Amino acid sequence: MTDLLTPVLTENWGKDKSWTYDFYAQHGGFEAAKKALKMKPEEVMNTVKDAGLRGRGGAGFPTGVKWSFIPQANPKPKYLIVNADESEPGTCKDMPLLLASPHLLLEGIVISAYAVNCHQAYIYIRGEAAHVARRMQAAVASMYEHGWFGKDIQGTGFDLDVTVHSGAGAYICGEETALLESLEGRRGQPRLKPPFPAVEGLFASPTVVNNVESISTVPSIIKNGVDWFASMGTEKSNGFTIYSISGHVARPGQYEAPLGTTFRQLLQLAGGIRKGHQLKFFTPGGSSTPMLTEEHLDTPLDFEGLAAVGSMLGTKAMQTFDETTSVVRTTTRWAEFYQHESCGKCTPCREGTQWLVQILKKLEAGQGEEGDVDKLLAVCDDINGLSFCTLAGGAVSCVTSAIAHFRPEFELGYTTPAWEAFPYEKSALFEGGVK
Ligand SMILES: Cc1cc2nc3c(=O)[nH]c(=O)nc-3n(C[C@H](O)[C@H](O)[C@H](O)COP(=O)(O)O)c2cc1C
Ligand code: SF4
Repeated sequence: MTDLLTPVLTENWGKDKSWTYDFYAQHGGFEAAKKALKMKPEEVMNTVKDAGLRGRGGAGFPTGVKWSFIPQANPKPKYLIVNADESEPGTCKDMPLLLASPHLLLEGIVISAYAVNCHQAYIYIRGEAAHVARRMQAAVASMYEHGWFGKDIQGTGFDLDVTVHSGAGAYICGEETALLESLEGRRGQPRLKPPFPAVEGLFASPTVVNNVESISTVPSIIKNGVDWFASMGTEKSNGFTIYSISGHVARPGQYEAPLGTTFRQLLQLAGGIRKGHQLKFFTPGGSSTPMLTEEHLDTPLDFEGLAAVGSMLGTKAMQTFDETTSVVRTTTRWAEFYQHESCGKCTPCREGTQWLVQILKKLEAGQGEEGDVDKLLAVCDDINGLSFCTLAGGAVSCVTSAIAHFRPEFELGYTTPAWEAFPYEKSALFEGGVK
């Protein structure tokens, strides 16, 4: 089963001092950047395009195509921003990648910035992750010391400065235009699109925003080639990715495997559902992706496979729950997250997420009334498609998918508290676990 693993990004995780410049340089680091800097920028861009790398931040937009939207004739500076705001419930791949192999991202930045003719890149890190920001700052300093950042990098005539920026801790700042607002020093709220960031992004200049994993994958593509990358994954979802499995499994963790791997295979890698229990539901890509159940164990986990069953690949964060879990309780916790993180810019999301939480809390307490489940769905209808950004869609899909699969359990909330039907102690991960 471990044959399934394709450790590229995770290859050096757990090795002694893997985060240091010397370790990286001694383990094949910078070969790709050296190669790329001898190519023409458009050749680098075309290689990434031809490889079929699709963004790993959630939406799966082709990375090389995104880069090609940067209008090179525009005389303004071009910016590259790495989105390290990782905050979606269940999602925990970018932070470990940055902690274990920060130079992989930094090498990716050198190559990607060169491809789009950018001389100033930013790494936008989630505010709470001070330890990650510190590690990145040290890694960036080591790149300056060794002539990989700054003026005339490695004597190639290419200049590149890189700034690590810590956000203030808001999920919405992961949305690329809210991120731009925040980086410019304003309140993090999404901007109206168009104009898209590629045309008018940071400081009204052409800007590429890419996820940590997307940019960290670039060096391996340059080093090993298009065919190597495209030999993994599925027809339209090429390559490998990091799947994060958490919850009621024997060995939760990060598993790097080709796109299109099934959840059944990943579960086997993770040692299966904890002993004596069965799978109840899982999210394929974080809390904003519609939940799935046992019938989806063999769905290929790629962009197309999940769309075909009405869900999304998202961040590939598989939060896994067994039969001891109250789906009402889980959904309420997610809804509380979205209510808290709603930026407040538009009414359907700002007010609607509060309504969802109010009704869900009643159901969780067994104090629901006949008709509350339909009311929940009606509120979802009022939020969905009427809100300004896709945060609202995530808030809605965890509720609607949960009701679609487990409606009777929500209706049980008219009479019975979730903590009676599903005692906390039974679903706690550890004996005496936190309630
Ligand atoms: C509410 C919200 C939060 C997001 N958070 C992140 C995030 O933490 N990291 C990320 O890379 N993309 C996040 N995204 C997606 C970004 O807007 C953007 O699509 C992504 O950074 C593009 O990178 P990629 O093309 O490499 O995937 C978020 C989107 C929304 C709507
Ligand atoms: S949908 Fe929610 S998060 Fe997005 S702009 Fe509106 S209030 Fe803000």
